[in-house]
Amino acid sequence: MSGDHFYITTPIYYVNGEPHIGHAYTTVAADAAARWQRLKGRSVRFLTGTDEHGQKVMEAAQKRGMTPQAHCDDIVPVWKRMMERLGISYDRFIRTTDADHEALVTSVLQSLYEKGDIYKDEYRGWYLVKDEVFVTEKEREERIASGELTADAFRMVEESNWFFRMSKYQEALLAHLDANPGCIRPENRMNEVKGFLAKPLGDLCISRPKARMSWGIELPFDPDYVCYVWFDALLNYLTGAGYAVGGEVGPWWPADWQLLGKDILTTHAVYWTTMLLAMGVPLPRLFAHGWWVSADGAKMSKSLGNVIDVHLLLDGFGVDATRYFLLREIRFGADGGFSYEGFLTKVNADLANDLGNLAHRVLKMTDKWLGGTVPPRSKPDPALAGLAERTVRAFDEGFEELRFKEALDAVFELVGAGNKHVDSMAPWALAQAGRTEELGDVLRDVLEICATAAALLAPVMPDKAAELAAKLGGERDDLARRVLRADPLHLLTDGATLTAGDPLFPRIQEMPANIAALFAPPAEVPATDAALPEMDWITSDDFEKVALRVGKVLAAEAHPKADKLLVLKVDLGEARPRTICAGIKSKFAPESLVGRNVVVVANLKPRPMRGITSEGMILAASGGAEVIDLVGVDAAPGDIVR
Ligand code: ME8
Ligand code: MG
Repeated sequence: MSGDHFYITTPIYYVNGEPHIGHAYTTVAADAAARWQRLKGRSVRFLTGTDEHGQKVMEAAQKRGMTPQAHCDDIVPVWKRMMERLGISYDRFIRTTDADHEALVTSVLQSLYEKGDIYKDEYRGWYLVKDEVFVTEKEREERIASGELTADAFRMVEESNWFFRMSKYQEALLAHLDANPGCIRPENRMNEVKGFLAKPLGDLCISRPKARMSWGIELPFDPDYVCYVWFDALLNYLTGAGYAVGGEVGPWWPADWQLLGKDILTTHAVYWTTMLLAMGVPLPRLFAHGWWVSADGAKMSKSLGNVIDVHLLLDGFGVDATRYFLLREIRFGADGGFSYEGFLTKVNADLANDLGNLAHRVLKMTDKWLGGTVPPRSKPDPALAGLAERTVRAFDEGFEELRFKEALDAVFELVGAGNKHVDSMAPWALAQAGRTEELGDVLRDVLEICATAAALLAPVMPDKAAELAAKLGGERDDLARRVLRADPLHLLTDGATLTAGDPLFPRIQEMPANIAALFAPPAEVPATDAALPEMDWITSDDFEKVALRVGKVLAAEAHPKADKLLVLKVDLGEARPRTICAGIKSKFAPESLVGRNVVVVANLKPRPMRGITSEGMILAASGGAEVIDLVGVDAAPGDIVR
């Protein structure tokens, strides 16, 4: 943050699933802020990435029958692809499995341990896997009673663990918050944090025994444990700033803005800040925004499965409209309901009717009556110039404080004034009367309003702003760089060539087909009288001879004498587990199968396979010789499949 450096971060996202509109939201907001700061000439570092350790990613990997690392490597490109399609201009995409990050976490743990801020103790409590946090008995009861969560969302955990002396820094944190009232935004979130800190703060459990959960960074002072996922993840912001323990904090830290959703306010405003206090590193500024909620008011989340797919919006409406909608529709900080109808209406009203229409008609008129070049004029209309000046200032102040909606409101007020100016000055009448000079003045003012809009919209709608700037005979970044310094409505060059072309934002007549399809009744299965393929048919009596049972894999290891085989111990609800050899080693790491349900041919006569007797067969799907997946059902060991 020193001098002209601007550092902005998003949360790093869990890779237990695919991105949705909520993740797009924070990332687009950070991107728009980063782009504006770059245009203002500051050195910008914009960090985003993925949170890859911990129980829920491990369980997601297990479900897919993959090692956690392979699972993460497989999902990360899906996140990067979303960001690429959204035009996210990050400077680094950090992964918590990156070597420099693991090294930083290790050295922070070691230094806090040496300082006496980390100690070992017994722990017993409820763990909420979906959020990777411990909760109190009372909180667990409340969240079950409210219907938000079911009892199986919580695990009782009882074990020795390592703790960070968070309580030791409670007072220093409170003092910091009092002295820096702007360091947590919006204000209601600051109040929430202070309320939380009104009660005595406990210490933070920062380890997980490997015996229970091994997917994490090993504690340097106790190899039986890995680091708690949040303690690891939060440090990404320092890794991304190039910080090293014992060294200088560097030019980027403290971050100018760390963006997050209000769901993770406590982890940032309390865990993270106390970690920094313990490390003797300055505290950043946090902004906790609200949630996109679905029609029933529930937060959109992976765990609830009620999310909006960003790719549908991008395919249906394009990247600029999507970015615009996210930042304009709700105040940054507040919650907002999402509906496709609302999206369509907003985009049509603001982008097609107001902005698109203003640009199109002024370009067409200039083309028709003034030869399609920027008409020279002595000075702008004073009222419009005053409004333009206020707009630019309001926009910049809005962006400095992450008030994106208010900043965009200002731009569209100016656009609205441009449309009114055209209506009231009636350039067609001036053209008819041959009053060319006045006509030029009016059209130039409106062209300048469009140029100002193109400049200010550059960080929000990079592609459309570039297109608009080009139509006006200018260049997006050049206009944006000058808009803060130039006299109001003095951005364009006399005589520059204008290009009306197609409207910037054509009106969207109906819901795009890919989105309409979501609400269409299911297609009827087409009737067909084509013949079935030739088969070696069996009767149901033949099939009845096969006893299929649900099994649960208790253990798995490589067969000592056969390259392709795994040896599984499978619980069929019988007196003892079965030993089953399966030719699936090319596809599955043995440990990834433990805990998985499979379907077993239970009455297949036991037979030796390279020295080990296999007592059944598990069902798998394959494409040719390649194993694709195992057949699994959500049922208890021993249940019958038929
Ligand atoms: O919490 N509305 O990751 P996560 C608005 N790995 N924003 C939303 C949203 C919604 N409905 N849903 C998600 C984690 N978000 C941790 C963070 S940081 C060191 C570790 C956004 O994948 C919002 O920014 O659950 C929220 O805080 C974040 O995604 C949570 O992403
Ligand atoms: Mg979450």
